[in-house]
Amino acid sequence: MKRFTLLGLALAVTAAAAAPKADIAKGKEIANTICAACHAADGNSGIAMYPKLSAQHAQYLFVQTKEIKEGKRTTGAAAAMMPLVASLSDQDMRNVAAFYATQFPKPGETNPKENPELGAKIYRGGLADKKIPACMSCHGPNGAGIPAGGTDILAYPRLGGQHKAYIVDQMKAYQSGQRKNNIMNDIAGRMTNEELKAVANFIQGLH
Ligand code: HEC
Ligand code: HEC
Repeated sequence: MKRFTLLGLALAVTAAAAAPKADIAKGKEIANTICAACHAADGNSGIAMYPKLSAQHAQYLFVQTKEIKEGKRTTGAAAAMMPLVASLSDQDMRNVAAFYATQFPKPGETNPKENPELGAKIYRGGLADKKIPACMSCHGPNGAGIPAGGTDILAYPRLGGQHKAYIVDQMKAYQSGQRKNNIMNDIAGRMTNEELKAVANFIQGLH
């Protein structure tokens, strides 16, 4: 029995090591012909409902694209994207993810009238009395996230410069459970609307 377990482990390690290489040039072609219409050619979409993809971690981009393709992520207007990525193979999605990961992010702005102090406080220090952890601890001091972590956490996504309305929307989806992730379901579940909006406003200007 033990032998089989060890063999399984060895196979799993080999499979991970042999993960296919991404072709950035091919990825750029896909970005220009399909994704640019909504996310912009360099991933710095100017429309709040389309998240910015520039400089996002490749593994996170790949997994989310695949989830939207397969109808597993139904948040926001994901349904509008689904038919456009239906014909992409895993390799296509890896290629386009690798391309967007190399693009330069353009930050947005924090609105000084929408509670930036509360937003900064939550992002950098959390709210201890409500057991809300500092977002920074996983998403990084400048919102750059952390690439591919352990086994079940593929990446802590980049948040810096992301559209405020998109962030608020995703936090609500984590609250309701429409988007599933144990860590974020728990954190969002402890937050009020006012707190979500304040932290999203801060994140929009973070870089
Ligand atoms: C018709 C418009 C449209 C097109 C074309 C489109 N998308 Fe999207 N995409 C969306 C929308 C809308 C969302 C946000 C869904 C939500 O609110 O949860 C999204 C979300 C994403 C996300 C999740 C981002 C995150 O931060 O979690 C990724 C990754 C993504 N798209 C990749 C792609 C790629 C790669 C292509 C091209 C192959 C593409 N999209 C083409 C509309 C589009
Ligand atoms: C313990 C680590 C951790 C902490 C702390 C944390 N996050 Fe996250 N966050 C994650 C992980 C992991 C994901 C990816 C989840 C997924 O795949 O849906 C994520 C995803 C997100 C997303 C979705 C990003 C996108 O592009 O769609 C948002 C928004 C977000 N977090 C906001 C926050 C905010 C705001 C805070 C602080 C109040 C916070 N997070 C604290 C780990 C964390």
